[in-house]
Amino acid sequence: MGAISKESTKAERFAREYSQRQREAERLVDREVFGAVIGANGYTTVDEASRLLELLALEPGERLLDLGSGRGWPGMYLANESGCSVTLTDVPTAALRDTLSDAARPNGPGPGAGAAKCCAAAADGRALPFRPQTFDAVAHTDVLC
Ligand SMILES: C[S@@+](CC[C@H](N)C(=O)[O-])C[C@H]1O[C@@H](n2cnc3c(N)ncnc32)[C@H](O)[C@@H]1O
Repeated sequence: MGAISKESTKAERFAREYSQRQREAERLVDREVFGAVIGANGYTTVDEASRLLELLALEPGERLLDLGSGRGWPGMYLANESGCSVTLTDVPTAALRDTLSDAARPNGPGPGAGAAKCCAAAADGRALPFRPQTFDAVAHTDVLC
């Protein structure tokens, strides 16, 4: 019972946080710390995301799953840079919705923003609604914490 209420408190905290767009101060912190406004809700820097890009070696046409995608960092970046498509998954829907609407703009989330193919599914990472072999790669940053 205690564990369940702790889990729902966490989910509520993320939902509350994502129900607001990034404030100017947060954008300034992003710029100062990460070197670009990336909508981060974790600690993954642009350099680290670039390393992920190298390691995953994604190709156009491949499919990436970003688990616990928050505001789309770094999934959108990886897709924009590599030309792969990305499926964003998280539990709160607000950030997923904002990321999809930002993605329609040329300056969507993260550096190197472009016109990545993306879609989103509100889903718990412990019970994903996808068939096996759906994705070529999976990324998650600051989710298992
Ligand atoms: C610290 S944030 C990191 C967000 C983003 N990946 C980033 O680096 O900016 C952790 C994210 O994991 C999500 N999360 C936590 N538990 C999850 C679960 N069981 N399934 C899916 N997402 C989960 C949270 O809602 C939150 O958006």
